[in-house]
Amino acid sequence: MRTSDLSEFYKKPLEERLQALKEFAELGDEEIEKLRKFGALEFETANRMIENVVSTFQLPLGIATNFIVNGKEYLIPFAIEEPSVVAAASNAAKLCRASGGFKAESDEPIMIGQILLVNAKEPEKAAEEIMRNKQELVGKASACDAMLVKFGGGARDLETRVVDSIRGKLIIVHLLVDVRDAMGANAVNTMCEALAPELEGIAGAGAKARMRIISNLAIYRKARAKAIWKKEELEKSVKGNMKGEEVVDAMLDAYAFADADPFRCTTHNKGIMNGIDAVAIACGQDFRALEAGAHSFAAISGTYKPLTRYNKNENGDLVGEIELPMAVGLVGGAVKTHPIAQIAVKILGVKSASELACVLASAGLAQNFAAMRALTTEGIQRGHMKLHAKNIAVLAGAKGNEIDIVAQKIAEEHCVKADRAKEILEEIRKRSGE
Ligand code: MEV
Repeated sequence: MRTSDLSEFYKKPLEERLQALKEFAELGDEEIEKLRKFGALEFETANRMIENVVSTFQLPLGIATNFIVNGKEYLIPFAIEEPSVVAAASNAAKLCRASGGFKAESDEPIMIGQILLVNAKEPEKAAEEIMRNKQELVGKASACDAMLVKFGGGARDLETRVVDSIRGKLIIVHLLVDVRDAMGANAVNTMCEALAPELEGIAGAGAKARMRIISNLAIYRKARAKAIWKKEELEKSVKGNMKGEEVVDAMLDAYAFADADPFRCTTHNKGIMNGIDAVAIACGQDFRALEAGAHSFAAISGTYKPLTRYNKNENGDLVGEIELPMAVGLVGGAVKTHPIAQIAVKILGVKSASELACVLASAGLAQNFAAMRALTTEGIQRGHMKLHAKNIAVLAGAKGNEIDIVAQKIAEEHCVKADRAKEILEEIRKRSGE
């Protein structure tokens, strides 16, 4: 009988897992062969990273060129499936080289761990008592991670809040931890778990620590980047007869749109995350944590806002800036186990989590600038369609130089569809057979 109850699947060797899948999903031999091709991330490594591994999932890895961040030249690896993103980032970086590229900075790597205390008899007094014991509690938290302390990190501070909730008053304790070059989730969670019984004791009889977990809203660990796009460069970059001043104004209108309207702002911020996620994935980072932190930070004022800001300087050039939480690490996690992530970090040449954060912020700003420039000038579909047309040509069965011929024709006809691509392909083959 077909069942998803595959008990102890994780204990089975790869071949048995594949066999079980083959039967369940009626996979063919060719499909199983494709799954069996692990690529650079071999089964043994992948199987240690997550559970029930049957294959690896690949994404194109592209290199964004032209980046200068804080005076240093970077080639930035992007792992992403979406056409145009790498080209757009490279173009944005090229257009601000004349003004020195990106200037970026990041805060100290302070992450927040949360401990939730409930059922305290007198929550406000309990919170005060916790703060009176701050020094000792912070010391105890640091003692959990001698290695982190050796590298200059460790617990730094404690904050408490009492908030009303649908279940009564909650005491929320924040443990602030300097995680140095780590993303920090493991270190912070371990410290929070160790501190929880101490906090229960201080909060008094009945108090219970319900949760102990890092917060992805890393407000103390933000990265910022800034770039200037000269109006002359903008003018050269657009086809047609738009003046540089007009491009700047059009982009400021686009920014005003995102600032004023959450529907547009969501897409505006999505474009930023196209760049940040792609670099984060290539470099083995927890991109879900970055996504969660970014969107939460975008809404921190109570209204969802753009993560970038734009204005015009005294020369009439466009100045773009970005600020967002950036919890990234170079020690621990996939960045250390995934062989391609290790190579990506080497290509990038970053030496610290803070440097990586600066590059990510710059990539996000570049991506956003590129999207706004394209949207306010020629539109994004032309660039998108070129690559999309190639994909459709391949899907229709085009091989070798047939791909470009079919892609160009369907793009010119504004009919980027597999049916039309097949017709064109047949015509080409008929003609070449004549
Ligand atoms: C597409 O993935 C991203 C854009 O929609 C971003 C934007 O609209 O700013 C082009």
